[in-house]
Amino acid sequence: MKRRKFIQNTTLSAVGFAAIPTAFSLTQNKIIDMTNNFPITIATWNFPNASIKAGEMLANGATALDAVEQGVMIEEANLKNTTVGKGGAPDREGNVTLDACIMSPEGDAGAVVYLKNNTHAVSVARKVMEETPHVMLAGEGADQFAREMGFEKEDLLTESSEQSYKEWLKKKEYKPLINIENHDTIGMLCIDKNGDLAGACTSSGLSYKMNGRVGDSPIIGSGLFLDNEVGGAVATGMGEAIMKSVGSFLIVELMRQGKTPQEACETAIQRIIKANPNYQDFQAAFIAINKQGEVGSYCIQKGFSYVKYQEGKNENIPSEFFIELQKK
Ligand code: GLY
Repeated sequence: MKRRKFIQNTTLSAVGFAAIPTAFSLTQNKIIDMTNNFPITIATWNFPNASIKAGEMLANGATALDAVEQGVMIEEANLKNTTVGKGGAPDREGNVTLDACIMSPEGDAGAVVYLKNNTHAVSVARKVMEETPHVMLAGEGADQFAREMGFEKEDLLTESSEQSYKEWLKKKEYKPLINIENHDTIGMLCIDKNGDLAGACTSSGLSYKMNGRVGDSPIIGSGLFLDNEVGGAVATGMGEAIMKSVGSFLIVELMRQGKTPQEACETAIQRIIKANPNYQDFQAAFIAINKQGEVGSYCIQKGFSYVKYQEGKNENIPSEFFIELQKK
């Protein structure tokens, strides 16, 4: 964290609450000037092309909302990524189905679940947010809406994912691997030059999931939550455990109460561990950022990392994890 200007003992009435621009934060009677921390991008796992795309857009003045959408679209279009977008592993019946959501600084949200025929689930989710009175569209309805919005129908099963699926069919074993290929969902949070925060989360979900299964990624509050006055959080890992804890919402509320992003992520993972005696068998991870640009991350198992892009520098940062702390 670089320059911070503290104006102590300033009362709301003295400065006029409505006059505080979003690049300033009012915390415990102090106004914190965060302008020099921004813009900033954080995202789950090591997807440098996605975070660099968002980071460069923000540096050129893009809004946080445009940056998160176009940042995660890089991985949706990456055919080698078997857990996001086109090329994602199918369900047990051979269907590739995508889940995604997006949130704006205004607190608006859009989501799609079980989207079958479009690579850019996040863009369809943004259209749900901006063009409909609803928050979430599912399955056939989401598909129909995507066509109406001009998204052309695509086949999301690639030759390579079809081959892997055929291999899987030989044994039909459902055993999600921890940190499989070191990536899962891409969740991204951006703060733009104005200090405004947006987020996006997109995934093809668990490989060889049951037909109809939806994970945490499109669920507002679970896979993603933000409040432009407080901060935001995104999740990756076993969607069922994350959904049951409503972890991203929890993290934002803990930050609202004064916890750092790191402390809030740790509390959310502790909740998951407490509620799931089999926690050693799966991964769950959160990253979070507050309005001052402070970042935190925590996960169950070793192996999760996140990226931070700030001032032209893209860093891959290994997350703290629970299992190591237990062994110490
Ligand atoms: N976190 C992605 C999923 O469980 O679907």
